[in-house]
Amino acid sequence: MVFKSIRGTKDILPGESDRWLEVESTVRRVFRRFNYKEIRTPLFEQTALFSRSIGALTDIVGKEMYTFTDRGEESLTLRPEGTASVIRSYIQNNLGEAQPLVKVYYLGPMFRQERPQAGRLRQFHQFGAEAIGSPRPETDAEIIALTIQIYRELSITRYDLKINSVGCERCRPRYREVLTSELRKIAGSLSPDSQRRIAENPMRVLDSKDEKDQSLTAQLPLITDYLCEECRSHFEGLKSALAALRIPFRIDGRLVRGLDYYTKTAFELTSTELGSQDALAGGGRYDLLTAELGGKQTPAVGFAAGIERLLMVLEKIKGAGDTGGQPALYLAAADAESREWVLAQTMELRGEGVWVESDLLGRSLKAQMRDADRQGVRAVLVVGQKELQSGKGSLKNMMNGESKEVQLSALQQLFAKAL
Ligand code: HAM
Repeated sequence: MVFKSIRGTKDILPGESDRWLEVESTVRRVFRRFNYKEIRTPLFEQTALFSRSIGALTDIVGKEMYTFTDRGEESLTLRPEGTASVIRSYIQNNLGEAQPLVKVYYLGPMFRQERPQAGRLRQFHQFGAEAIGSPRPETDAEIIALTIQIYRELSITRYDLKINSVGCERCRPRYREVLTSELRKIAGSLSPDSQRRIAENPMRVLDSKDEKDQSLTAQLPLITDYLCEECRSHFEGLKSALAALRIPFRIDGRLVRGLDYYTKTAFELTSTELGSQDALAGGGRYDLLTAELGGKQTPAVGFAAGIERLLMVLEKIKGAGDTGGQPALYLAAADAESREWVLAQTMELRGEGVWVESDLLGRSLKAQMRDADRQGVRAVLVVGQKELQSGKGSLKNMMNGESKEVQLSALQQLFAKAL
């Protein structure tokens, strides 16, 4: 029996993991600078946490969750996203007690049983942040600026930022009524998915990817025309904060996103470098979620971004390949008697912080040299009885082919300096 990984999951192989580390460390660095602290929540939670938060009628809850019953007969679900777990933890641990605005970030795997394709996996990875406790649009602007800063630091500067306001519990019902009655008039011509959504979530019909749906709904009223005074002025506040931050954006009255917890701000960042799964990141405000999950009503806003999609863009602009660098030094043993010295010296240099490699397969000197070459090491030192007796050896710079004589006892100094 030969085992294979599950459809929609991927191994991150040794050559690729360096780029992951690079992305993760950039992400963490930017989060820190924006003063967001990491929160780590479990990978699985009670199923009801997600259905309550994301919405029972969404695609995620309706058909994409990995849900199972454990031996205690409890229904559990692998997290399809991070926000619900963060708010659960915020309430459970009284995080709001110590400070009025709690700024947290997370980074890790999420699980959705979608149809796998380029940029869409069943186990994928997100980084995201939540700012919990502020109703002000400057907070939404900070979240958007944070998202963009991360891409900027990774040299991704071509993206499209779309923003919208999806209203609140006061203005949305009236808009939904108007929209539903308009949609009913054209229902027969809409795609089956959109027909179903008229009753479940009419705003998502406007978000349909189906071209015929798009042209049929092109003239329908948009939520932005129905916002209450509070939502309208919040949206104005966001637009002017983004302008002050010199962040270009496009207003898209059709943007509603696939999670039901949003109120007021919704936004999405898309990349022209990606195909049909072009959403790099998305987020928005969710002022009612904390109360919905049993906590005190607390305004909040956040975002999440897919790492696999970000890496696809990076590969397009920078090319594939190993970005992890190479060992600084390869110590090659010229004869069997020198192997022990090489082993000990390798460990000693590593202890000093030098990235050094030597042979563990008992290979001939020629094979060791080939290995050093394959690994792309920057310098090679061959050590045999002659070198051990004289205390000197010839260090070959593999970048330019030059050799120079060095004291064996000075290796530490030589390479520590290069660090
Ligand atoms: P989301 O739009 O569902 O939002 O996901 C955010 C990002 O995760 C997407 O833009 C995409 O890059 C990536 N993503 C989602 N599904 C997949 C998949 N199957 N394969 C690969 N990448 C995927 C959320 O998850 C919200 N929790 C964001 C948020 C935080 N809103 C407020 N706070």
